[in-house]
Amino acid sequence: MRIGVLASGGGSNLEAILDAGIPVSVVVVDRPCRAIDLADAAGVAHELVEWNGDRLDFTHRVVDALERHGVELVAMAGFMRILDKPIFDAFPGRVLNTHPSLLPSFRGAHAVADALEAGVKVTGCTIHVAVPEVDAGPILAQEAVPVHDDDTVEALHERIKAVEHRLYPDTIKTFMERT
Ligand code: GRF
Repeated sequence: MRIGVLASGGGSNLEAILDAGIPVSVVVVDRPCRAIDLADAAGVAHELVEWNGDRLDFTHRVVDALERHGVELVAMAGFMRILDKPIFDAFPGRVLNTHPSLLPSFRGAHAVADALEAGVKVTGCTIHVAVPEVDAGPILAQEAVPVHDDDTVEALHERIKAVEHRLYPDTIKTFMERT
């Protein structure tokens, strides 16, 4: 199964996916970022699809980039753009995402800060099938992460990411075996 990874930033989840031996065919990014260097180092193709303020057009260009590489399964890994319906039509039930909270709690781009602000004692991460509604869709895996009394957003996010780095590749592998 040909995998495409969408990333925007640090790319630590992409790195974990590559380290797990998952065969990534292309990395699609919306901005110059470390994910490009990781793709290069792993000998994986990358495509830069720059954000142009038009979500529908942007989504079509992302889908085109994925289709050029024969992608069959899409893994969003810290992709900081909301995608429109065409990607869910092109890859029905085959767009996965990792989110740094126990969904359905704390959807959105500030999930870690929101959890800290709410004073919860436990948060975590969720691997799910992505749907047009942001941070929704069938949940494939979740794992809890404790919140410490003296936590900062950065420290808590790093603790969550350490779990994502194991849980996301494992869940992708299981998904590939069952699909
Ligand atoms: C992860 O915590 C992911 O759940 C969230 O953004 C972070 C991306 O980290 N959507 P990285 O770019 O993979 O290091």
